[in-house]
Amino acid sequence: MLCFSCWRCDTASAIPPNHGHVERRLVTLGGEHKAVSQFLVQLGNAATVVEAYLTTVLAKQESEGTPPRLAEAIRHAVLGGGKRFRPFLVLHSAALFGASPEAALPAAAAIECIHCYSLVHDDLPSMDNDELRRGRPTVWKAYDEWTAILVGDALQAFAFELVGAPDTNSDARVRADLVHVLAVASGAVGMVGGQQLDLEAGKLAGQPAPTIASIMRLQAMKTGALIRAACEMGAIVGGGTPDERAALRTYGEHLGAAFQISDDLLDAEGSSSETGKATGKDAAAGKATLIGMLGIKEARSHLDHSIAAAIAALNVFGDRAEPLADAAKLMGRRDS
Ligand code: IPE
Ligand code: IPE
Ligand code: MG
Ligand code: MG
Ligand code: MG
Repeated sequence: MLCFSCWRCDTASAIPPNHGHVERRLVTLGGEHKAVSQFLVQLGNAATVVEAYLTTVLAKQESEGTPPRLAEAIRHAVLGGGKRFRPFLVLHSAALFGASPEAALPAAAAIECIHCYSLVHDDLPSMDNDELRRGRPTVWKAYDEWTAILVGDALQAFAFELVGAPDTNSDARVRADLVHVLAVASGAVGMVGGQQLDLEAGKLAGQPAPTIASIMRLQAMKTGALIRAACEMGAIVGGGTPDERAALRTYGEHLGAAFQISDDLLDAEGSSSETGKATGKDAAAGKATLIGMLGIKEARSHLDHSIAAAIAALNVFGDRAEPLADAAKLMGRRDS
């Protein structure tokens, strides 16, 4: 298994992820580790290029007048950790249509900025109250709450700056489409709405008992919306047909469901040293999860079903979609 943090350890190793390696490099692998390693290498390569891009564009923004403490906190939130799963989805969805990584990088970086902002706010004392993220102190812990709120605000705006910028794509319709898809996925009917439902379940008295349908809706919003948008943004950059775009949306929907179930399984079964964040908190916080409602075994069967449905949605693309199919398969066995 490759190390999820640095992508340099290419065999099963005792080194836990988030052990401080943040320097990534492009690698290729073959041989017996191919099935899982191939995907991890591709994920690591996507992380390498998107981190280089994010480093450059954040440095440019900093040089244009970001207050130094805010710039430092933004770098803390964005750089130095994270799987970069959503950028991977943008790059590989775009690649299905022959688009280069360079063409897809602004969209990939933009969705990672929205994701990082969502994590910074998710960790706030008034939300999940977490002190560890990606193996390091959360932004509010390293700085303070008001800085963490402003970091999230700034990252949200920056995401739209990235996709809206004229040099992102010469076709203004492509840029407008990217902005629109990202905005809908980020807002009240997407990630933010899902976070509202997630917190209501744990914090508000007198809530109706969750059902499988209500949990799946909550998760589709808080996590699925951005994952689906990542796939759709790849199709927009690549110029996919409406049918191809719809197929990627369906893939993203099922993948998003799988992603949150596997995140909840990590909370229930994983360790903080592997995940780089606190674990064992969802049940105590009263979170509405499939695990809480159905137990681990049944939740795993929902996970398997979502993985199969995600892979089936890729049929239309044939073998070209192997990296995306492998991404879905990994949801059944990820450890961070
Ligand atoms: C964690 O997302 C939050 C959820 C939406 C479940 P990731 O597992 O993608 O976190 P990073 O980016 O790798 O840290
Ligand atoms: C977070 O879900 C979803 C978003 C940030 C939108 P969780 O609260 O389960 O994520 P972790 O476990 O803290 O990463
Ligand atoms: Mg949360
Ligand atoms: Mg959380
Ligand atoms: Mg979680």
